[in-house]
Amino acid sequence: MLHISNLYKIFNYGEVNEKIALQNINLRLAAGEFVTVIGGNGAGKSTLLNCIAGVYIPDQGTIHLDGREITRLPDYQRAASICRIFQDPMTGTAASMTVEENLALALRRGMKRRLVRAITEKERKLFRDKLARLELGLEYRLTTPVKLLSGGQRQALALLMATLVRPKLALLDEHTASLDPKTALRVLELTRTLFEKENITTLMITHNMEQALRMGTRLIMLHEGKIILDVNDGEREGLTVAKLIELFHAASGEKLQNDRLLLA
Ligand SMILES: Nc1ncnc2c1ncn2[C@@H]1O[C@H](COP(=O)(O)OP(=O)(O)OP(=O)(O)O)[C@@H](O)[C@H]1O
Ligand SMILES: [Mg+2]
Repeated sequence: MLHISNLYKIFNYGEVNEKIALQNINLRLAAGEFVTVIGGNGAGKSTLLNCIAGVYIPDQGTIHLDGREITRLPDYQRAASICRIFQDPMTGTAASMTVEENLALALRRGMKRRLVRAITEKERKLFRDKLARLELGLEYRLTTPVKLLSGGQRQALALLMATLVRPKLALLDEHTASLDPKTALRVLELTRTLFEKENITTLMITHNMEQALRMGTRLIMLHEGKIILDVNDGEREGLTVAKLIELFHAASGEKLQNDRLLLA
């Protein structure tokens, strides 16, 4: 489903503050794979997702999605097939629009403007059914402006919106990091039901190593812009956080610095 080959991204090329954010990234994701991505601060995780989403155009290398080259395609032309969820719950939904208006926008993703029409009763029923499954009571709040919802409710709504039209690829960038522990757990459970169990091909960045080991089918670790570990399902069994730290040492030749990864 996703094929990344020899990918490089360099910021401020030729300047004193030149930064090689990604170097020689090679990655293949089969359809339905759910991959967790870990790595220290500045390892290149968000840059990788930004290159896949079209926010940054890579300096070298290619990205193919479902057989089609998308390396230099503008981000809005990828939006119909790639969905993204960020750390900040405020970014995934439109604050001043209601719950049902947000869902209607998601349902019409990729449609031409002139085809956009009023919300039908049939759609309202679909929204209510889908919202009920989140078990947050949002099915009774279709006409509530999203800005009145909690961070966790907004993030849950963003997840639902992302899957309303099945994406080819989902990119989740620490999407539970700014939630309180209980809400984060609930949103993680929803991630399992809406993405993992539905076999949506997903890359999920997390700074929580425990989470990275529990979720999905495969784990990759980035360090200084390179993939230094790629552990698939069989090999992941029996792996603990302590062993993961050991593997990091072995692969990078460095001690894992005392950053968010360890604190989590
Ligand atoms: N737009 C930019 N301009 C210049 N440098 C950038 C830009 N975006 C990222 N970088 C640099 O590229 C490197 C990788 O950053 P990136 O945001 O991908 O890290 P990350 O792995 O997501 O880290 P974190 O865990 O802190 O989110 C960092 O050194 C960062 O400072
Ligand atoms: Mg990041």
